[in-house]
Amino acid sequence: MTRQTPSHVVGESAGPWTSPFSDSAEFYDALYTVERDYAAQATRLVELVRAALPGAVTLLDVACGTGLHIEQLRQHYHCEGVDASVEMLRIARRRNPGLRFHLGDMRSFATGRRYDVVTCLFSSITYARDLPGLQRTAQTFAAHLVPNGICLVEPFIPYERWVDLPTGDLRTVNLPHLTVAMVDRAQRRGRSVLREVAYAVATPNGIRQVLERHTFGLFSANDYVDAFGSAGFEVTFDSEGFDSARGLYVARLRSAGESA
Ligand SMILES: C[S@@+](CC[C@H](N)C(=O)[O-])C[C@H]1O[C@@H](n2cnc3c(N)ncnc32)[C@H](O)[C@@H]1O
Repeated sequence: MTRQTPSHVVGESAGPWTSPFSDSAEFYDALYTVERDYAAQATRLVELVRAALPGAVTLLDVACGTGLHIEQLRQHYHCEGVDASVEMLRIARRRNPGLRFHLGDMRSFATGRRYDVVTCLFSSITYARDLPGLQRTAQTFAAHLVPNGICLVEPFIPYERWVDLPTGDLRTVNLPHLTVAMVDRAQRRGRSVLREVAYAVATPNGIRQVLERHTFGLFSANDYVDAFGSAGFEVTFDSEGFDSARGLYVARLRSAGESA
């Protein structure tokens, strides 16, 4: 079990709790590829980028997780990824050999390059945690884009629509070599949510449990527009996105001298 890994910047990992997206990384794909069609999402992203910046060549996926979007997007762009989890990056690298992946926090990473497109998908932006964190994240994205570069951010449900989930969700996966049952509960404290997740995992090697505590921020539509607007972006919202519950922000970095 991974405990208190310094590279992890999210959640708490004391006691029985493991760092978010560490021990659970190995079954992340099994849990989420059931509900998310990464190939279809990549097709939609390519359409949006074509419309906004037809000549785009390079793309950085922030909070890239296990590299499922990059696996699709690398057919269209020179892709790189950033994530805060060593374990998620290990899988992303295995899935996308030869591509560059960076360990880093979305609020402060520095790859030393600028890209035509920056993406941050599946509500990962919530791990900016709070308003100052969201502002720093928007500035960090801006610092990694060329002038007129495009940023695509899939938000979480807005602050106003949050409802506590005292006994949460149940997800199950039942594959020939892997069975996972996941339960969670989530509670808001001000603008922050504490989400506790328990996984029961069976593999041919044995049976175990993984416990995670995630802390993330809740943001309103205005928070996103303000944070990205202040960082130099012109922000539009595509209410369809990948799904209408979340939508997708499409933000263009203004070039120097262009007024807001
Ligand atoms: C819900 S997963 C999404 C992964 C991937 N984008 C996808 O669509 O499957 C959230 C990801 O955010 C990463 N993450 C959490 N906090 C982060 C931070 N502060 N900076 C960068 N990545 C972070 C996690 O390690 C995890 O891979």
